[in-house]
Amino acid sequence: MTSSLATVSYIGATILFILSLGGLANPETARRGNLFGIVGMTIAVLATIFGPRVTPAGIPWIIGALLVGGSIGLFAARKVQMTQMPELVALMHSLVGLAACLVGFASYVDTSTVFPTEAEKSIHEMEIYIGILIGAVTFSGSIVAFGKLSGKIGGKPLLLPGRHWLNLAGLLIVIWFGRVFLNAHGIEVGMLSLLVMTVIALLFGVHMVMAIGGADMPVVVSMLNSYSGWAAAATGFMLSNDLLIVVGALVGSSGAILSYIMCRAMNRNFISVIAGGFGTGGGAPAAASGAAQPAGEVAPIAAPETAELLREAKNVIIVPGYGMAVAQAQHTVYEITRYLREKGVNVRFGIHPVAGRMPGHMNVLLAEAKVPYDIVMEMDEINEDFPKTDVTMVIGANDIVNPAAQDDPTSPIAGMPVLEVWKAKTSIVMKRSMASGYAGVDNPLFYKENNRMLFGDAKKMLDEVLAALKT
Ligand code: TAP
Repeated sequence: MTSSLATVSYIGATILFILSLGGLANPETARRGNLFGIVGMTIAVLATIFGPRVTPAGIPWIIGALLVGGSIGLFAARKVQMTQMPELVALMHSLVGLAACLVGFASYVDTSTVFPTEAEKSIHEMEIYIGILIGAVTFSGSIVAFGKLSGKIGGKPLLLPGRHWLNLAGLLIVIWFGRVFLNAHGIEVGMLSLLVMTVIALLFGVHMVMAIGGADMPVVVSMLNSYSGWAAAATGFMLSNDLLIVVGALVGSSGAILSYIMCRAMNRNFISVIAGGFGTGGGAPAAASGAAQPAGEVAPIAAPETAELLREAKNVIIVPGYGMAVAQAQHTVYEITRYLREKGVNVRFGIHPVAGRMPGHMNVLLAEAKVPYDIVMEMDEINEDFPKTDVTMVIGANDIVNPAAQDDPTSPIAGMPVLEVWKAKTSIVMKRSMASGYAGVDNPLFYKENNRMLFGDAKKMLDEVLAALKT
């Protein structure tokens, strides 16, 4: 393939990636967006393999690597449950970071490239230094995020004394060694600087994510998504690959925008989240903060009574959460919705921006179950309607409907906007026990006078509700 054909292919792939991102922003166009992405990536891979920069001897290596990587990806995509998707995404981000580090070290020891001027050589070395820095932070941060999301590492923030000073010291050392690296005359000195910086970057990544509390994890996930984009862009600079630079920048900036949107949705300050320990009661870990224990009586309800309440209601709002995903209850939710709508009940869905474990988690599940998009509302669109609602059905959600976020300033989730389900005439919470949610915070909603608890697996209980509705 000639160099100009490869360039044209890269431009085509870039346009497809932009169209893909645009399509993925809306559930109705998401499938088309996905297709654009697949076609774009196929063109990009083919143009790279058969482009002018790959020698024929290299092609078998690339194809071998593609087969190994593709098989692992295929296996993971088939095996991993929908609820484990965020962990898988975190792992994939770590691979992008690792790739940036490996490419950086390989570029440094590769002496085959001759730079016409000293300035060009310095720019290339700067790209290597920054690329490895971003890659190492992304790698270790994503591994810790994987641990936290999969429950292998506790969700509570680790707040080391003087942590901001530690970070600052790390930054100063990295800048110092950057200078040493750029002025190094031998490969040994340069390599030593690179290694020191890599270790500090790895430690920084671990420290940064360990310091972030449970309820702020959504921001971390999207932030690491952004970092992985910048790591890919840095790799593009090191390899002088324009497509990688553009795609990396697309992922990096869209991830940064998503992080900002998440922070706004959760009423968090972006810098405070990154610095760690925000929303933990003045810097104390969540468990140690003096959050009030909810008190009162819990009123259970059975499936037939729930069906009765739904049948008599005129307005119903369903609030799905992580438990709906675990129980895979979305199809029964759809059946109940369809039945009630046929009987003239106004049924709508209230979606919290961080419901579940990944952005858009609930929207994806509801779309899969064919729930019409026009009755799926964002939190801001529906929160004012709860006082006019007869029944709210909370299905496997907890943190996103916790009134302590509004009422208890000492709560670790204080200030996070929540769906005000308790303002409806009756709220019904479907979950298996009184256990807390992801943020590990007790929920006073369960003890409210107008709240009923339908204990059990969401799918099983909804099947019973549907059967009771139909008899
Ligand atoms: P959670 O607060 O985690 O609550 C989910 C509830 O579902 C649990 O209390 C659990 O109670 C219940 N549950 C689990 N399996 C169930 C089943 N089979 N049937 C019925 N109920 C079941 O979820 P949420 O309200 O969706 O809030 C999301 C939380 O995750 C927030 O804290 C958010 O910050 C965090 N987070 C979100 C994201 C993104 S991007 N969305 C990423 C990382 C973290 P039982 O055990 O008693 O059943």
